[in-house]
Amino acid sequence: LDAVLGGGGWDVGGTFEGPPQPTGPIRLGKNVCYVVLAVLFNEEDGVLLVQEAKAECRGKWYLPAGRMEPGEGIVAAMRREVKEETGLECQPLTLLALEERGPAWIRFAFLARPTGGTLKTLAEADSESLQATWWPGDPCSLPLRALDILPLLDLAARYRRGPPHPPTLPQALPCPLLCLRLLVAFTNTTGDLWVLVATSGTPRLPMVACGTSPAELRGGLRRPVLRLLRDCFPPDPPPPGPLGLLGLQHQAEGPGGGDGVCFNVLLSIPPPTTSKMAQATPPG
Ligand SMILES: *[C@@H]1O[C@H](CO)[C@@H](O)[C@H](O)[C@H]1NC(C)=O
Repeated sequence: LDAVLGGGGWDVGGTFEGPPQPTGPIRLGKNVCYVVLAVLFNEEDGVLLVQEAKAECRGKWYLPAGRMEPGEGIVAAMRREVKEETGLECQPLTLLALEERGPAWIRFAFLARPTGGTLKTLAEADSESLQATWWPGDPCSLPLRALDILPLLDLAARYRRGPPHPPTLPQALPCPLLCLRLLVAFTNTTGDLWVLVATSGTPRLPMVACGTSPAELRGGLRRPVLRLLRDCFPPDPPPPGPLGLLGLQHQAEGPGGGDGVCFNVLLSIPPPTTSKMAQATPPG
């Protein structure tokens, strides 16, 4: 619990709860797509925006973002995209959000701080971007490529006012699959905190894996979580609240390395109702 709550991780091992899912390798660009994005501010609270060069959105503005490449670390990918699109070096401060969209499309949105380099100007326009700027005002006064960056800017502003969570950064630990280490917590009717533990073998936090069949990947990261809740709380699994990210591990290269990611996730479930407790606890 200390490791998970402190943003750490450890060896994933090969034991997952529930029926085995088809698990060919997770391959970037084949069955998963990871996107990295960064929110940076300068000392005058200007936000770093990039003017897009791609034909379909040329001239529109967006946060620096792009696809992670095979063999790359998550932070390395974020720093490369920021460098290519804005000319600046940066250091990550924390993950702000993890977004899932479509089958195995996951976006890692970071808050980062500039550490060097020079801002890319129109004279340096290339296929990565036309230019970059520190935008001091409301970004909506610029033609934006998409409005999905606005909630991320809100999260960044909130984190800078007073971090609602400790810094969360990827740990360099290998993980062959897309999987979740779950901290499922609920308080019972007298207010005591309970945590779901897998008790086959050494008691541990339950681990669930996302299979690699197209149908399974379409279900995203919530699907193996729902499967576990169905298995653990028959016949009426509790409606899970939002998944809270406590940490994550990924290591592209080296022994055991690959394109998998293990997400440590906190999941609160509503307390059992009195009638369900009565059902679950036969008299005597
Ligand atoms: C709540 O959990 C505590 C701690 O395990 C236990 O002593 C208590 O009996 C539980 N309350 C109910 C109503 O089940």
